[in-house]
Amino acid sequence: MLSGRRILLVIGGGVAAYKALDLIRRLKERGAAVRCVMTAGAQEFVTPLSAAALSQEKVFTDLFSLTDEADIGHIRLSRESDLVVVAPATADLMAKAASGLANDLASNILLATDKPVLMAPAMNPRMWAHPATRRNLATLAADGVLFVGPNAGSMAERGESGVGRMAEPLEIVAAVEAALAGGAKPPAPSVAWRDVIYQGAEAALAGGAKPPAPSVAWRDVIYQGAGPAPPPAPGRLPPQGPLAGMRVLVTSGPTHEPIDPVRYIANRSSGRQGHAIAAAAAQAGARVTLVSGPVNLPDPPGVRVVKVETAREMLQAVEAALPADAAVFTAAVADWRVAGAAGEKIKKTADGAPPALALVENPDILAAVSQMASGRPKLVVGFAAETEKVLEHAKAKLARKGCDWIVANDVSPESGVMGGERNTVHLVTAEGVEDWPTMNKDEVARRLVARIADALARAGAGA
Ligand code: C5P
Repeated sequence: MLSGRRILLVIGGGVAAYKALDLIRRLKERGAAVRCVMTAGAQEFVTPLSAAALSQEKVFTDLFSLTDEADIGHIRLSRESDLVVVAPATADLMAKAASGLANDLASNILLATDKPVLMAPAMNPRMWAHPATRRNLATLAADGVLFVGPNAGSMAERGESGVGRMAEPLEIVAAVEAALAGGAKPPAPSVAWRDVIYQGAEAALAGGAKPPAPSVAWRDVIYQGAGPAPPPAPGRLPPQGPLAGMRVLVTSGPTHEPIDPVRYIANRSSGRQGHAIAAAAAQAGARVTLVSGPVNLPDPPGVRVVKVETAREMLQAVEAALPADAAVFTAAVADWRVAGAAGEKIKKTADGAPPALALVENPDILAAVSQMASGRPKLVVGFAAETEKVLEHAKAKLARKGCDWIVANDVSPESGVMGGERNTVHLVTAEGVEDWPTMNKDEVARRLVARIADALARAGAGA
């Protein structure tokens, strides 16, 4: 399955480093070539000799080793691999990678590599839950780093349990295979994965049997876009992820504005982007309400969906769903509705004159929420679908509506965005404009959600 694939395994300094040795074995069994880099901390837990014996390759430890640099420099180490795996990814290594520090060989490789990076975090649950780690996680995810784990269970520290155990070697192997398959999805989580983790934690707390390993780790689901998010299990294991504990409101789809009982004004919005954002926010641990106009899409798993038809219904549903920490207005709300829609089907007249349809302006939901005097979400994000002068109009909209960010996209017929799978967007904030590469709508959603998590973590830190 992995034959011919080259893995650069960075082993960080944590108790879970012993599992990295098993990981080498598992990867080799599947035909991968594994080359190891060990931090100084890692060498306190396992020896380079063991890693060398298992990988049958020289193990690299020093940034300034003359022989290594002359022989195989850090750039070559990364160039000669297909994937960089960091296991265990300690809080320190994540912080270094998130900030671009490069004072040892491991962090240097992470800064220099242009290969995909998969991290398997492992740390004490309090370190994992710390806002600093949350921020680093959001930054790394936004940078495109993939994650597997951590799982819940007992810690090396006596009597401690919680989320922070490194994913099991076979879970990491599955994530490696998924990452190398180039976007292929890792196996969907088993229905009861949360229960499994929860029971594991419970058993650990009771000092009981070894917790069963979940079939797939939570972070696989968040960051690799694997199958649907598991349904939340209220009152059980609290949600994990960079948006855990946050409430996110998303609007999606078009609105239908009735002309008479059988006819309406609509637009071409499919709801794909808004639904993807709601799904990504739920996968990142948020409690999500999705207010959706009429769409032909399944409800995203783990999301509360409120279905509406008209702009006025959408406004009501949005108001009812507040408060929220962040609100993302993706819906293509009709700007106008027909004044006094007919109660009966409008009939053709004998003289052939078409009916005169008087239009009135709909409420602007985004502007209303952005300008709320109290209870405004900390972060309000609007979308700007434009067919020309995309950035110019988006910047004007940011100022006019009073929202914090505008995600601008070109929806001219030649762009294929409306109803399509892919999207090319620009993120317009008070700081400037970021041009994002063309991605599919799920990737846009994940990236936006990672940015939202980052902004909320910063807002929280500053509060
Ligand atoms: O003004 P325009 O329709 O181009 O603005 C687009 C943004 O405003 C989107 O975020 C859309 O969801 C939101 N909007 C709204 N209510 C309206 C019109 C647009 O929330 N009536």
